[in-house]
Amino acid sequence: MVKNPCFVSLSIFIILSFLSTISSADIELGSFLQPNNQTSNQTSKWDSPDNSFSLGFIPIPSSSPPLYSVAITFSGIPIWKAGGDSGIVDSNSRFEFLRNGNLRLINSSSTVLWDSNTANLGVTIATLDNSGNLALSNGSTVVWSSFDNPTDTILPGQNFTTSKTLNSGLYSFNLTKAGNLTLRWNTETLYWNQGLNLSINSNLTSPSLSLSNIGILQLSDITLQSSVRVAYSSDFGETDNLFRFLRLDSDGNLRMYSSVGGSGNSTERWAAVVDQCLVYGWCGNMGVCSYNDTGPVCGCASRNFELEDPNDSRKGCKRKSDITNCSSSLTMMELDNTMYLTYQPELSSQLFYAGTAGCKSNCLKDTTCIASTAVADGTGVCYYKTTDFVSGYHSPTVPSISYVKICGSEDPNPPPSALTAALSSKPFQFRGWVVAVAVLVTLVAVVLLEGGLWIWCCRNSPKFNSLSAQYALLEYASGAPVQFSFSDLHSSTKGFKEKLGSGGFGTVYKGILANRSVVAVKQLEGIEQGEKQFRMEVATISSTHHLNLVRLVGFCSEGRHRLLVYEFMKNGSLDGFLFAADGNSGKLLNWESRFNIALGTAKGLTYLHEECRDCIVHCDIKPENILLDDNHNAKVSDFGLSKLINPKDHRRTLTSVRGTRGYLAPEWVANLPITSKSDVYSYGMVLLEIVSGRRNFDVSEETGWKKFSIWAYDEFEKGNIFSIVDKRLTENELDIDQVLRAIQVSFWCIQEQPSQRPKMGKVVQMLEGITEIERPPIPKAASEVSVGGMTMNVSDSIIASSTIATSARAPSSTSSSHRFSRDLTSI
Ligand SMILES: *[C@@H]1O[C@H](CO)[C@@H](O)[C@H](O)[C@H]1NC(C)=O
Ligand SMILES: *[C@@H]1O[C@H](CO)[C@@H](O)[C@H](O)[C@H]1NC(C)=O
Ligand SMILES: *[C@@H]1O[C@H](CO)[C@@H](O)[C@H](O)[C@H]1NC(C)=O
Ligand SMILES: *[C@@H]1O[C@H](CO)[C@@H](O)[C@H](O)[C@H]1NC(C)=O
Ligand SMILES: *[C@@H]1O[C@H](CO)[C@@H](O)[C@H](O)[C@H]1NC(C)=O
Ligand SMILES: *[C@@H]1O[C@H](CO)[C@@H](O)[C@H](O)[C@H]1NC(C)=O
Ligand SMILES: *[C@@H]1O[C@H](CO)[C@@H](O)[C@H](O)[C@H]1NC(C)=O
Ligand SMILES: *[C@@H]1O[C@H](CO)[C@@H](O)[C@H](O)[C@H]1NC(C)=O
Ligand SMILES: *[C@@H]1O[C@H](CO)[C@@H](O)[C@H](O)[C@H]1NC(C)=O
Ligand SMILES: *[C@@H]1O[C@H](CO)[C@@H](O)[C@H](O)[C@H]1NC(C)=O
Ligand SMILES: *[C@@H]1O[C@H](CO)[C@@H](O)[C@H](O)[C@H]1NC(C)=O
Ligand SMILES: *[C@@H]1O[C@H](CO)[C@@H](O)[C@H](O)[C@H]1NC(C)=O
Repeated sequence: MVKNPCFVSLSIFIILSFLSTISSADIELGSFLQPNNQTSNQTSKWDSPDNSFSLGFIPIPSSSPPLYSVAITFSGIPIWKAGGDSGIVDSNSRFEFLRNGNLRLINSSSTVLWDSNTANLGVTIATLDNSGNLALSNGSTVVWSSFDNPTDTILPGQNFTTSKTLNSGLYSFNLTKAGNLTLRWNTETLYWNQGLNLSINSNLTSPSLSLSNIGILQLSDITLQSSVRVAYSSDFGETDNLFRFLRLDSDGNLRMYSSVGGSGNSTERWAAVVDQCLVYGWCGNMGVCSYNDTGPVCGCASRNFELEDPNDSRKGCKRKSDITNCSSSLTMMELDNTMYLTYQPELSSQLFYAGTAGCKSNCLKDTTCIASTAVADGTGVCYYKTTDFVSGYHSPTVPSISYVKICGSEDPNPPPSALTAALSSKPFQFRGWVVAVAVLVTLVAVVLLEGGLWIWCCRNSPKFNSLSAQYALLEYASGAPVQFSFSDLHSSTKGFKEKLGSGGFGTVYKGILANRSVVAVKQLEGIEQGEKQFRMEVATISSTHHLNLVRLVGFCSEGRHRLLVYEFMKNGSLDGFLFAADGNSGKLLNWESRFNIALGTAKGLTYLHEECRDCIVHCDIKPENILLDDNHNAKVSDFGLSKLINPKDHRRTLTSVRGTRGYLAPEWVANLPITSKSDVYSYGMVLLEIVSGRRNFDVSEETGWKKFSIWAYDEFEKGNIFSIVDKRLTENELDIDQVLRAIQVSFWCIQEQPSQRPKMGKVVQMLEGITEIERPPIPKAASEVSVGGMTMNVSDSIIASSTIATSARAPSSTSSSHRFSRDLTSI
């Protein structure tokens, strides 16, 4: 094993020196430490036998006059502090191990700031061991130890139980009896609560959390056969000369770190709250957290506020003009893409159902309400902030709209730009002013010159459009999606590396934005449309807010590049669950989830067809376009895109709508107008697949070589409901009423005549059982002939060329149309 003789001798040396120093690590009764030993000019300290850990006074950086705390450190990294955050003392303080066995910290006026409470318990000795534990014992039993009384850090070998807590400022970390890890602000507000994997079905008795040497945070309990892994360091498994620790940082985040040898430098390897802005109170009262290019930053909601402490933006903001004593009128200022964090225990008491308008006006009327947040995901949820502490978060990825009560007129924050940055950089005020004027003059000159040139020579050229597009977008400023530069998206997708899939309109890649939120970036292909049209469609898509629609976060339109940035759905699309390979039973959905997905999809489509400002026909409903979020909620994706393909001013031509076989309504083939009823047809097919777990166009011996959807109706006629239902679902989990309703609704939806099909709103009511469902007539197969096991489909994908007539609702050419009239160029 040991190849190197030097190693052996080194080991012997280490063991010998260990033996020789072991007694020197013992701290005797009556000894004490001081920040500075005036005689020897050295900071006195107590070391562990191998000198890796030491206990002594450490200076608080940049304090004047110098202040200290007493800490156990590893190469300068504090891992325990006497008295925690409140153990801060001046240079005439003492840390004493009294003869009665008590360890205590006193400041120069002899006030006891901390003590171990071990007087007269027979304590005879204190030791600091090589794992960093300071223990007071009576010779045989440990009476008190720093491992049992942690401050903000846990080391490998240390057990963290439910009776312990880590503290840092107003933040605390606890382990609950049920084994949940919790982070709280001000002992109450619970902003992080992570439970065990649900598959661990056990009632814990005395859970204990520990950090292993290889960087895994694990929970053990006598009722568990082996410890459960709770979190992994990004460098887990490495042991070489690594010092690891878990710390509740002063910013309220719990992190695992590793540090190489005695470098004193530590690197973050895991964080509990991935998005720092979700840590309650991080930016102080009324502060708003957001991200700049380097990380999270604190600021104020608008210029109606100012920083509490200009030297520390984390201290929060205050109104320049008080609302309790307002001489002018009170108003609610609207803040797009902003939310006020609401966690337990506020969560239930502050929740109301009111649309965005109600969320604003009700808070204005209520004298106790100081701000409100409309979640804007289609649920109508609104949170009122009535407490005197509120914590804000602004980001393009936040869909919510918030309102904050102010006195007098609104004074919004300036947009972040080079010009304003120059103006606001205080230390160089004079130079900034000169630069600003120079920049302004140049800008004005350039604008005048360019404007003149354009008016003179390019009035009718398409370039003129792109300028007006910029202005047109301003009209949509409320809830406007964020514009990303191509290089932003290139770097957030790591150069379009991780492909999530590809659909009719382009390829989708995974990306990570600055606030670490994960997004899906769709690189559109075959878009030959102008900048203006593109922006208009983007504005239409992003004006949709519904729980069952995938949210558009932003877009990029630069040169040839057209990209859309959506929220990321970890669970992928419905097809992966419905048609999963047999071995993949983990992804099988139970009936309850299936029914919720069917209902959610129907609600999302109802919103697109009937409820949103500019109505949208989807044109490509299929399981691949229904995504599932963490809770298996259905989210319809890819809507509004068919209009982006090659439009021509008022008469836009759709050259390549790629419907997918089996889901296309007969009117696509029969050269009839495409309406929202075409989506109803596709939905019906998807609904049948949700019930059956089989593709509607599947043909097999079991179905008598008929298309599954045709065969299913025959079985329905014969009363064989269960032969239609997915065999992988057990009979006792089925809600027969729901199953029957779903099957009948699907047959109504796939009627050949569009007029026979119900509207999506009616579909929702029928599924919910609010409306009676009549027996559906036979959905006549429109376009397929079955020949001895071979189904002749019209086409795998229909290449259609269609002209979209502009709808009467929309004054401009921008908004969507209900009716498409097309002529087929090729089948
Ligand atoms: C200060 O240092 C001197 C010399 O090393 C030592 O004799 C003395 O005990 C120290 N005093 C304290 C208070 O530690
Ligand atoms: C203590 O050390 C500092 C530098 O480390 C030196 O400037 C100072 O004069 C020393 N004081 C005494 C009393 O030796
Ligand atoms: C000692 O601590 C007490 C309590 O924190 C404080 O009131 C007192 O001012 C401190 N004395 C000195 C000299 O720092
Ligand atoms: C130390 O304390 C333990 C428990 O209180 C006791 O059982 C033991 O006898 C004590 N040992 C000595 C040496 O006092
Ligand atoms: C932590 O717990 C384990 C078993 O759960 C035990 O073996 C170990 O001694 C404990 N460590 C400390 C420092 O209490
Ligand atoms: C966290 O644990 C400590 C120690 O048991 C306890 O005093 C405190 O109340 C706990 N905090 C919460 C919020 O449960
Ligand atoms: C424990 O955490 C899970 C989330 O991981 C949560 O669903 C559950 O309600 C929590 N349990 C308690 C008792 O807070
Ligand atoms: C839960 O545990 C199972 C089996 O141990 C594992 O396959 C699954 O990935 C775990 N889930 C999470 C969220 O850790
Ligand atoms: C946990 O406790 C509850 C009620 O105390 C009991 O119903 C359940 O069966 C227990 N679960 C296990 C796995 O012991
Ligand atoms: C610690 O980190 C700093 C800054 O990153 C670096 O300059 C220094 O060399 C590092 N020290 C060691 C010992 O790695
Ligand atoms: C982001 O904000 C931090 C803190 O205010 C600042 O130090 C940093 O320079 C900012 N980065 C950019 C790119 O503006
Ligand atoms: C901010 O810092 C400057 C210089 O460091 C100081 O003069 C000023 O008093 C500080 N302001 C506040 C509010 O602490």
